[in-house]
Amino acid sequence: MGWNYPDISLEEMMKLIKGFVDILILASGYQSSGLLAHWDSDNIKRAFHWALFFENVFRRLRSLDVYRESLEELDAALFEMASRPSFPQGLAHLSSATLRRARGYMLEHLLHNLPLRDSHLKAILTSTIEMDLSALSETEHDCLNAYLNKLTLQNRLCMGNLFTSSLDVTPTMETEDSGSDNFTKLAVQELFRRQSAVSCISTIEEGVNILSNAVRQSSWTESDCSLFREKMKHESLPALLQSADASVAVFTWNQWKSRALSYFLDKRTIRLVSGASLIFSGTKVQWGKVFGQLNFSEKDSNCDIHEAIELLLLGCIASRWNYIIEHLTSVSYDSVTISKQYHMLANSDFGKSQTFNQKEDIMKSKEAGILDFLMGLLGGQVHLLWKSSPALTAISLPSWSPLFRLYLSEIDTQFKGNPSTMRCCSCIQDWNEHKDCELAERIWCLYIFHVCGAQMIHGTCGA
Ligand SMILES: *[C@@H]1O[C@H](CO)[C@@H](O)[C@H](O)[C@H]1NC(C)=O
Ligand SMILES: *[C@@H]1O[C@H](CO)[C@@H](O)[C@H](O)[C@H]1NC(C)=O
Repeated sequence: MGWNYPDISLEEMMKLIKGFVDILILASGYQSSGLLAHWDSDNIKRAFHWALFFENVFRRLRSLDVYRESLEELDAALFEMASRPSFPQGLAHLSSATLRRARGYMLEHLLHNLPLRDSHLKAILTSTIEMDLSALSETEHDCLNAYLNKLTLQNRLCMGNLFTSSLDVTPTMETEDSGSDNFTKLAVQELFRRQSAVSCISTIEEGVNILSNAVRQSSWTESDCSLFREKMKHESLPALLQSADASVAVFTWNQWKSRALSYFLDKRTIRLVSGASLIFSGTKVQWGKVFGQLNFSEKDSNCDIHEAIELLLLGCIASRWNYIIEHLTSVSYDSVTISKQYHMLANSDFGKSQTFNQKEDIMKSKEAGILDFLMGLLGGQVHLLWKSSPALTAISLPSWSPLFRLYLSEIDTQFKGNPSTMRCCSCIQDWNEHKDCELAERIWCLYIFHVCGAQMIHGTCGA
């Protein structure tokens, strides 16, 4: 039987929905060119009318059993449309159920975009109130008074809920009967949701800030000091001198550790992580297009290739940020020398015997896509990776990737002082061991992530 709604054909309905999708994209704040979308109360009202239209149609379709197959047919067509790689990921769950609450959905997009400018908020509120006033004017003689009375009632209900702390700020996704809701109620709901999200974020930011300041101030931790003191007590002086000479000094170890932690806790890094996680949640075709449009060069500050590399590397670890912080805070000092660390890295057969479960496979293929792209961007200039934080490079390159091998072989070149396009330290010329130079730090980072934290690298503990 299929589609049997008399007023409009399925093709036409899909065309209208595509138009609605375009409005929703603009409602999220930006035009496809990346410029800010312009919204005034008139075009917001137009968008609201579209939303009302869809709600009415879909309520009707839903309420009568004869249209059940129509809805199924439409949902199949919507699913097909949303699965196309060019379809915006943020709207991927669009269905007849979403369209049945199109007003709330539209308001969600209008009110959750960042940043919510004053003029934008004012336009949304104006159109919200005007829509409700005009609906009331159909039944009420004095619609303004009627509106104010309803608003007072609504406010009282809302405050009551606040006091019993059961304010319902969850989206009305499942509630079937939001048909009686007005624009005002839906807008207030979304504003509460935005407010609670913002206060959540600022609490987290504050917490991370305190942590990051603490890390910066105390790179020499108490436990490591006492460990070292303990060691001094038990070992004879020559042995101690010997081991102190070859192994990484506690002070250096702690400096590297705090530098790595500070990088990951930095506000800028966290923003990049969240941006990367958003960008790479799309398909490779989508984010590839974004990066492909940029003309990277080492000199052009507008399209800094180093920032692009950083973003790609962060894209590989975005879902594992928590575990990285956890791991970094938990590794404690051990006295393995840099050259021993280097040999452990060089001789291990990373990943050769590994089997991945399905979740790991999906993550691996996503990472592989990002790393493939990075490989192309680097064009053989592995030394560009050395501009990124040593900890980031170490954790983001999985040992099964060709880039990891390349990075390791560059480390090898530097370690032995073989000819290379760059030289990261002067230890070899000065006849010194690599101990507290950049190369030593890079080896240390690889060591603590790939040797001491292998399960984290392979994402077995991450989501
Ligand atoms: C909106 O509708 C709710 C019921 O869904 C009602 O309690 C409230 O008073 C209404 N508010 C306005 C401003 O119409
Ligand atoms: C990219 O930038 C370089 C120099 O900055 C310029 O020579 C080249 O023509 C640009 N390519 C494109 C496609 O814009």
